[in-house]
Amino acid sequence: MLKTAQNAQRNKIVVLNPKGGCGKSTLATNIAACYAERGSPPAIMDYDPQGSTMAWLERRPKDRPAIHGIAAYKRNMQATRSWQLRVPTDTLNLIIDSPAGINHDSLRELTRDASSILVPVLPSTMDIHAASRCIADLLLVAKVDRRDRKLAVVANRTRSNTKSFRRLMRFLDSLGIPIIAVLRDSQNFVHSAEMGIGLHEMQPSKVKPDLEQLDRIVAWLDGWQTRRRAPAKVAQLGSSNSGIQPGILGKPQFGSA
Ligand SMILES: Nc1ncnc2c1ncn2[C@@H]1O[C@H](COP(=O)(O)OP(=O)(O)OP(=O)(O)O)[C@@H](O)[C@H]1O
Ligand SMILES: [Mg+2]
Repeated sequence: MLKTAQNAQRNKIVVLNPKGGCGKSTLATNIAACYAERGSPPAIMDYDPQGSTMAWLERRPKDRPAIHGIAAYKRNMQATRSWQLRVPTDTLNLIIDSPAGINHDSLRELTRDASSILVPVLPSTMDIHAASRCIADLLLVAKVDRRDRKLAVVANRTRSNTKSFRRLMRFLDSLGIPIIAVLRDSQNFVHSAEMGIGLHEMQPSKVKPDLEQLDRIVAWLDGWQTRRRAPAKVAQLGSSNSGIQPGILGKPQFGSA
């Protein structure tokens, strides 16, 4: 896709992790709902044949702020691909929800021109291994340059400060990749998904700790133009842990609701 004047102003946000069920669609829909509440209608592009994001959008109450949906997983032989994937010209935030199990070609295609890439990670050892592989692929296969600071991790459904989670934090820290938020395991996410809304559209007293974390994510996303090409700490992929204690979130609060 060519960078036009229009999409040079657009934050292309890709939510990606080939591991199934780690919270990609949950994150993508909540980010979209948040931008919609703010006033400028975002677009959400669903590459997953399960179509969970499109289904969420269909459940969305009509009186809620608009989100433009693009079912990228559907192929229409009657139209060109670029026509199918067209985004309204005034869209400032485009959120891409990706499927589980994507191959290297899809990884390259999805992340091309991305200005922000979010990798949600669950706290289990298997998930953390998968996330490490995913990040290695983003750096080595999709050639995401760490100096562009477009890549960040969101720890999802985090119940406890486990050894494997701390290992992931050290691994990311040695690569200069931030964990920008820690989302707790909360039924709020399940309920918002069922209702076609985001947590920002739920009763504030119920979702306060979750909103604080979502706001961190959106604040990081909003900084996309200033994040570019800043010097990052350089460590060799595969080198041993740096031993640097992660300081991005201070001491995250763990818990469930
Ligand atoms: N923080 C959370 N707390 C509680 N439940 C959550 C949380 N995040 C996600 N879930 C639930 O976990 C399930 C999987 O989440 P989701 O569909 O967002 O993952 P996914 O990565 O998009 O999955 P897939 O790879 O199949 O597309 C859903 O039922 C969702 O409601
Ligand atoms: Mg999904």
